[in-house]
Amino acid sequence: MEKKVLIVFGTRPEAIKMAPVVKELKNIDSLNTAVCVTAQHREMLDQVLDFFKITPDYDLDLMKPNQTLNELSSRIFSKIDVVLNNFKPNLVLVHGDTTTSTIVALASFNRQIKVAHVEAGLRTYNKSAPFPEEINRQITGRITDYHFAPTKNAANNLINNENVNPKKVYITGNTVIDALFWGIKNINDKRLEISKLESKTDKTKKLILVTGHRRENFGKKFESFCNALLTISKRNDIQIIYPVHLNPRVQSPVTKILKNIENVLLIKPLDYEVFIWLMNKSYLIITDSGGIQEEAPSLKKPVLVTREVTERQEAVESNLVKLVGTNKKLIINETIKLLDSKEEYNKMISADNPYGDGKASKRIKNIINSL
Ligand code: UD1
Ligand code: UDP
Repeated sequence: MEKKVLIVFGTRPEAIKMAPVVKELKNIDSLNTAVCVTAQHREMLDQVLDFFKITPDYDLDLMKPNQTLNELSSRIFSKIDVVLNNFKPNLVLVHGDTTTSTIVALASFNRQIKVAHVEAGLRTYNKSAPFPEEINRQITGRITDYHFAPTKNAANNLINNENVNPKKVYITGNTVIDALFWGIKNINDKRLEISKLESKTDKTKKLILVTGHRRENFGKKFESFCNALLTISKRNDIQIIYPVHLNPRVQSPVTKILKNIENVLLIKPLDYEVFIWLMNKSYLIITDSGGIQEEAPSLKKPVLVTREVTERQEAVESNLVKLVGTNKKLIINETIKLLDSKEEYNKMISADNPYGDGKASKRIKNIINSL
């Protein structure tokens, strides 16, 4: 009988990291692979679907402005159940740590459908950070039947700390590197959006690329981070470019503190093609994003991470990223170090990327094909 696989995702980072898996699985003739997007994100998800040319088979279209985690969860539960009942997959693939992945894993489990988890095993073991992602990961990990861990560390978390059967844990590398390599190959730098952005960058200055959206930083911590950027912007040898996440709880402090500031360019979220182009042009990156920390080492860009703890310890140990939290002084001092000391800068770009070789999605395909 034909086997059916349902790949489900909902946010920008999940879409980027699942895109290479979709491409691989759609190539297996003996599998009936369908894609379902919850559209937990709308515009930011569509940007990714366009670039990777993915047309979902099911679109639950459930984002609401300023959604709470519980409203979102309840909408996912009720809408995914209809898809599970109609498509009747043998296996559901979810990704990472979002509300989409955890609720879909649980809904699949409730229908006794097997679950595979891409980017499995990342942990801080601190339930407040990242919030709610750490607990999302732990719950998804309990439910999962096949764990695709990006690194040895992630696999060890599952096997040694959580007693997961080692035969169900596969070290694959992170599919974000597959997406990045595909993206780099497919950048069209003649695109209008790229030339428009290029005309706004100041080539005489060092470009600092910034993003930030983590829930545990909302409020005072986020303001402290924006105030650090404000101080850094006073230097006349830098330009800050900040594509601002569409969450109103991010938009509001960022515009309040950084709008109309010289040397700070606030822009809308960029589609993946333009974002990779911009990462490549940047001198350093300040971010709390998980995916950007994994991509930047392949582009030889140092990253200051505005988080207190991390589930991506490999990059810290290799000196590729530095945790600076949201302490204003620390962000400013570490940024200045990287701007003024070539030695400090070089220390952060010399190691190899620990997150993958661009073949993770092929490995995942082979494993699924052999199940
Ligand atoms: C979600 C994920 C987080 C991931 C992040 C990536 C959870 C709990 N959080 O957080 O793990 O790192 O995505 O960006 O799953 N919005 C739009 N348009 C969009 C996207 C968002 O308007 O395309 C606005 C909406 O008002 C929405 C709000 O942002 O209600 C929050 O979106 P949501 O997905 O709930 O949370 P994120 O903070 O984006
Ligand atoms: N990204 C993008 N456009 C942007 C900012 C980020 O395409 O304006 C990409 C980035 O390259 C990375 C991913 O989005 O692959 C990270 O998503 P996000 O920061 O939203 O989530 P996280 O990685 O923290 O879960």
